[in-house]
Amino acid sequence: MSTSPAVTKAWRDLHQHGADMAGIPMRDLFAQDPARATRYFLEADGIALDYSKNNITEKSLDLLLALAAATGIEQKRDALFAGEKINRSENRAVLHVALRDHKSGRYRVDGRDVMADISAERDKMALFCANIHANHHLGVTGKPLRHVVNIGIGGSDLGPKMVCQALKPYWLPGRRVDFVANVDGAAISQTLAGLDWQETLFLVASKTFTTQETMANAKTARQWFLQQGGREQDIAKHFVALSTNEQAVQAFGIAPESMFRFWDWVGGRFSLWSSIGLSIALTVGFDRFEELLAGAHAMDGHFKTKPLGLNMPVIMALMGVWNRNIMGAAAHAILPYDQTLALLPDFLQQLDMESNGKGVAIDGREMTEKTGPVIFGAAGTNGQHAFYQLIHQGTDLISADFIAPARSHYPQGDHHKILLANFLAQPQALMQGKNLAMVKAEMAATGVAPEIIKEVAPQKTFPGNRPSNALIVEMFNPFNLGALIALYEHKIFCQGVLWGINSFDQWGVELGKQLAGDILPALSGGPAPALDSSTANLLARLNQWGEKQ
Ligand code: F6P
Repeated sequence: MSTSPAVTKAWRDLHQHGADMAGIPMRDLFAQDPARATRYFLEADGIALDYSKNNITEKSLDLLLALAAATGIEQKRDALFAGEKINRSENRAVLHVALRDHKSGRYRVDGRDVMADISAERDKMALFCANIHANHHLGVTGKPLRHVVNIGIGGSDLGPKMVCQALKPYWLPGRRVDFVANVDGAAISQTLAGLDWQETLFLVASKTFTTQETMANAKTARQWFLQQGGREQDIAKHFVALSTNEQAVQAFGIAPESMFRFWDWVGGRFSLWSSIGLSIALTVGFDRFEELLAGAHAMDGHFKTKPLGLNMPVIMALMGVWNRNIMGAAAHAILPYDQTLALLPDFLQQLDMESNGKGVAIDGREMTEKTGPVIFGAAGTNGQHAFYQLIHQGTDLISADFIAPARSHYPQGDHHKILLANFLAQPQALMQGKNLAMVKAEMAATGVAPEIIKEVAPQKTFPGNRPSNALIVEMFNPFNLGALIALYEHKIFCQGVLWGINSFDQWGVELGKQLAGDILPALSGGPAPALDSSTANLLARLNQWGEKQ
């Protein structure tokens, strides 16, 4: 039985030490220690991490590492790589790491070697991509299938969509990819409106192949295909399935040979490395997809072998726990200063919040420590003109990851230098702040009246001491992007271990799905289930207004 975090000595010590640290300005810590920036700096697989702008000292790190040891991070990491069923509430192994180690790895689930299955599926994907790219697999009218539409939601959408956008500089010429996730008819309608059915390949991406939104969108796409001129027997050429559920795929009308499989030990939000990544491989080429996997595999090696104090995912997890539990941060911002990574915050939002948004520990006990923070973000510098105000001066503490490449794929005058100047300035401003005396002096120097200074100067001060990490790479490519994603996967797993929760289930999404299923018939004149008066009233009004259509 795991130990409830709140009762361990490591947590108590950390809270005590945190109370001492809370009032210490980070700028003093920098002034006292000229080596601080290099002391709290790590490099792995093309990624450099500066975590010096967290309100920590050597003692904080020692206590955090004691917590890591007390919660058994190393043993739990080894259990993950060993294919043990660490997702206990679903009785499943968690082996997305095997997908990026298919060339030399040895992984077993229930005593069965899974490597042959992985390799066979990988070969099938590679062959399929080669045939599409060489125009051997053509549409039914003989046109190249240059346009891919991925229909999926959550983990069957966010990962591949984010990676495709991030790797835009690597797209094969003439290829196009779209993603349809929302069941709102606007999403599929707008995508279909721009398509030539003869050139389109639909990927129906769903681990379960039962997800209401994906099934509705897939049916609409099939109907559209038939209306445009395609015939039932042509579906096999234009629709493939990415799934674990062979029966449901067949029932939908997609033949087993057009199905790319994966397995229940791949969590949906960890599935872009599996056949769910087919849209990536079709868009950037299979070799690039392999480079993405290689980058993630390199980070797996780092995570598996480095001592905890030099282990990047572990350190990021410890900083996260320090800020969330000890400093009281309510949210964590993901701030990529790279337009092609604009979807990284959305992707990490699911990865982190679905994994660690848990209020009950793995042993069934209610959590007394806070768990996953709210994850949000946007590409810099856009976010600076939207929500940074609250990060700088709001009443909640928010921690942040700033991410940037030294070089851009899109050199354009001094754009990248301006971008990087902002990338460097924001964390500095958050850390240093600006005190009242400085603001008053500045205002007085410009001749502002003393009564105005008294009123306005406090509003212009910055408290500072707002924590952040900085992650930099030379230039984004498939390899370091893969490493970056794996870094976050492992960070999130480690945080789950530190909190004593299961990061691999997601029971919290079930109730709403079930209720939507019960309510659906009532929107078409069917019987309404027992509803609270607010929901019943809204349903009645929607039905009343809906009739006017
Ligand atoms: O939102 C719940 C969820 O189960 C996610 O975990 C998952 O990524 C998504 O739905 C889609 O599931 P599927 O791939 O089975 O359609």
